[in-house]
Amino acid sequence: MEPYSVKALEPTVASESFAATASVPAVRIRNLKKSYVLKSETVHALRGVSFDIPEGDFVAIMGPSGSGKSTLLNLLGCLDKPTSGNFFLGDDDVARMSDDELADIRSRRIGFVFQSYNLIQQYTVVENIQVPLYYQGRLGAAEHQRAVELACSVGLSERLDHRPMQLSGGQQQRVAIARSLMNDPYFMLADEATGNLDSVTTEEILSLFDRLNNEGRTIIMVTHEDEVAARAKRVIRLADGMLSSDRTNSEASREEARQRQRDHVLALAQRKD
Ligand SMILES: Nc1ncnc2c1ncn2[C@@H]1O[C@H](COP(=O)(O)OP(=O)(O)OP(=O)(O)O)[C@@H](O)[C@H]1O
Ligand SMILES: [Mg+2]
Repeated sequence: MEPYSVKALEPTVASESFAATASVPAVRIRNLKKSYVLKSETVHALRGVSFDIPEGDFVAIMGPSGSGKSTLLNLLGCLDKPTSGNFFLGDDDVARMSDDELADIRSRRIGFVFQSYNLIQQYTVVENIQVPLYYQGRLGAAEHQRAVELACSVGLSERLDHRPMQLSGGQQQRVAIARSLMNDPYFMLADEATGNLDSVTTEEILSLFDRLNNEGRTIIMVTHEDEVAARAKRVIRLADGMLSSDRTNSEASREEARQRQRDHVLALAQRKD
């Protein structure tokens, strides 16, 4: 399901959700379970997961194939509903919501960043950044200005009228990141956001995440790569549908990871010279 394939919604104030929830954890999950009922069997993809993600956190979700990462991501992104348990976004229990309410939350309160960017090819950079608003029927001069500012803030001021085909992979992902911020979301949800990028561009995107997180953005990312997870403030690991560990990366270890990546990028540049 596409997060933006939602019906038109009433106009709202862009920044209300972000400002109003400063003291409430962005995400609270309690004993969250998700089972898929198939003809021959029931698959217990998540078997009771609990954790909090406070505002301003930067979390990497890891785990072996089949451990439930995508299932958890789909629940966090309001793309799917849990079988049981609670999932609070601010004060709202998402697990109890109707499909329409889920679609509303999805389009207004969650910023999605995908491995494959998911940009609209016919649209310019600025138009792509505005996409989350198209479904809400609010597109005035102020929204256009905000999209331009977001494009500039991710380093695309020279590319405002380019189309995705005319951009590099890293630039396309920066458009997607700017788009994810258009609604001032509760949190950014990144699914292998650097999975398609070379190490130089990965570093660009991770630096951008660092900056956004320093500015107060809550980031939740699924990754298979230890070096990407080492940049987060916290790493949650799943195994067999359960939380197997939840640990904090020290600031020192994060700085070491940044330095390793910078050294790596430098070594690549020198090899090219
Ligand atoms: N729609 C579905 N119907 C039935 N079973 C499913 C469905 N989606 C996932 N599963 C099962 O649930 C379990 C968890 O799957 P999930 O996709 O969440 O794993 P993952 O950690 O994302 O794995 P990967 O690293 O391979 O992407 C797996 O056993 C999977 O086969
Ligand atoms: Mg997966």
